Amino acid sequence: MNKKGFIFDLDGVIVDTAKYHFLAWKELAKSIDIDFTHEQNEQLKGVSRVKSLEKILAWGNKTISETQFKALMLKKNEEYLSYIAKMDDKEILPDVPKILNYLIQKEQPISLGSASKNARPILEKVNLLSKFNAIVDGNDVSNAKPDPEVFLIAAKHLNIKLENCIVFEDSVAGVQAANTANMISIGIGKKEVLHEADYIFSDFTEIENSFIQELINR
Ligand code: BG6
Ligand code: MG
Repeated sequence: MNKKGFIFDLDGVIVDTAKYHFLAWKELAKSIDIDFTHEQNEQLKGVSRVKSLEKILAWGNKTISETQFKALMLKKNEEYLSYIAKMDDKEILPDVPKILNYLIQKEQPISLGSASKNARPILEKVNLLSKFNAIVDGNDVSNAKPDPEVFLIAAKHLNIKLENCIVFEDSVAGVQAANTANMISIGIGKKEVLHEADYIFSDFTEIENSFIQELINR
């Protein structure tokens, strides 16, 4: 049977956690007198925790000590985890299980490829952890997206050639990472934003099983 490697980003692809990242960053920014907007939050999609805080400090024209930086990172994550604690399978984005189940039925290997260090607990909360053959997340990489490292490791775990991997991503950095890795990139979100992707859909309800089957047959 034809096998391809299917790699999914987490935040914004499987679950809509951007709203929780927003609330946690907003609270944190407020505590150091920085204003934080929804537009700025958009720019943090796919961006690692460290890089996100660096950006927020730059927007607010603030410099802080390394100790303070570490404390703020911890504080943000504690706040974020308080939202995650309340998550359940209702927060899975529409038709994600349909696609995952189709891939499993077709015996296609599936990996997570996420920048988040909270990926495993989130997948556990929404009851999807068992659907994945491999989990590659922020704990496994030293280079954040748009560096392709996370997807290269995922392909290795799945034992699938790079050009036979397909990546689902909602962030520009993630699409760029997939393209650099020589993988097929599927953007989930707005065409104006994700125009570098090979294919773009607003969400998984627009993706038919026949499209997935074509990818498998390629
Ligand atoms: C990405 C999110 O998936 O993970 C970013 O899009 C987030 O917004 C990054 O900053 C790191 O996540 P975490 O859970 O390790 O803070
Ligand atoms: Mg994402």
